[in-house]
Amino acid sequence: MRRKFIAGNWKMNLGYRESEKLAKEIKSKLEDKYFTKTDVLICPSFISLGIVNKAIKDTEIKLGAQDLYFENDGAFTGEVSSDMIKSVGCEYVIIGHSERRKYQHESNKLINLKINKAIRSGLKPILCIGESLEEREDEIYESVIIEMLRDGLHEISTEDMSKIVIAYEPVWAIGTGLNATPKQASEIHGFIRKYISDKYDPEIAKEQIVLYGGSVNGKNAKDILSAKDVDGALIGGASLKPDEFCDIVRIAYSI
Ligand code: PGA
Repeated sequence: MRRKFIAGNWKMNLGYRESEKLAKEIKSKLEDKYFTKTDVLICPSFISLGIVNKAIKDTEIKLGAQDLYFENDGAFTGEVSSDMIKSVGCEYVIIGHSERRKYQHESNKLINLKINKAIRSGLKPILCIGESLEEREDEIYESVIIEMLRDGLHEISTEDMSKIVIAYEPVWAIGTGLNATPKQASEIHGFIRKYISDKYDPEIAKEQIVLYGGSVNGKNAKDILSAKDVDGALIGGASLKPDEFCDIVRIAYSI
C-alpha cells in the first residue's frame, strides 16, 4: 500500500538560521498522527542540512539534499559527496531536477551516475523528470519521459527500484503558477507506472512512489493529490511557507 509523500525543495533559499527557524516551525505544526499515513521530507541547501537535522531530531520528518556528486572524494572543488550528506542525516537526495538540467547542463548520463551513486551509498534518490512546454506542445512528451527514465535508471536493478522515488515535474509548471490538471498528472503518472511494470516488475510498479511537482500549493493540493496514481508532491515555493506546507501535509493525510 503506497503512502502519501510530501517533499519540500527549498532550492537556493534561506540562510543557516532561517532554515533552522523554518524547520522548527514545520516541526511545531505537524502532529504525530500525520506521520502515520504520510511521509514528510524537507530538502534545505547543503549548508543548512546539519542545523536542520538537529532541529528535526526526534521527529518523523525526513531530511534530503538537493544534489550530490557521483565520486567518493578528491579534487572536485565545490562538489558534495554522498557520504558528506549522509553524515548530516540525509536519507533522500533529489537528482536531476530540471533547474540543474537547465542551468548546470546535467545530462541523463550524469544523472544516472548520481542515481547509481546514491543507491550504492544507501541513499534514496528522487529522480526528477518532465517535459518542456515545447515538448508538450509538440506532443513528444511521452518519448522525452521514456528517455529520461531509461537513461536515468540505466543499470538500476529491480530490487533497487523500490528505493527510488520518481517526481514528475513538467518544466512548464515549475515556479510559473501554471500546473498540470489532475487529469494530465494522472495520465503521465500512469504512464510512468506502466513503464516500470513493463521494464521491471508489476509488483514493484504497484508500490512505486510517483510525486507530482510544479506550482503545488494549498489551493490546488487536494485536487492534485486525489488524482489517480499521484502519491504526493515535490513542492518548491509553497514549501517555504510553513502554514501552507503543513496544510498540504494535512490534506495528504486526509485523502
Ligand atoms: P514550485 O517548484 O513548487 O515552486 O513550482 C517545484 C520544484 O521545482 O520542485
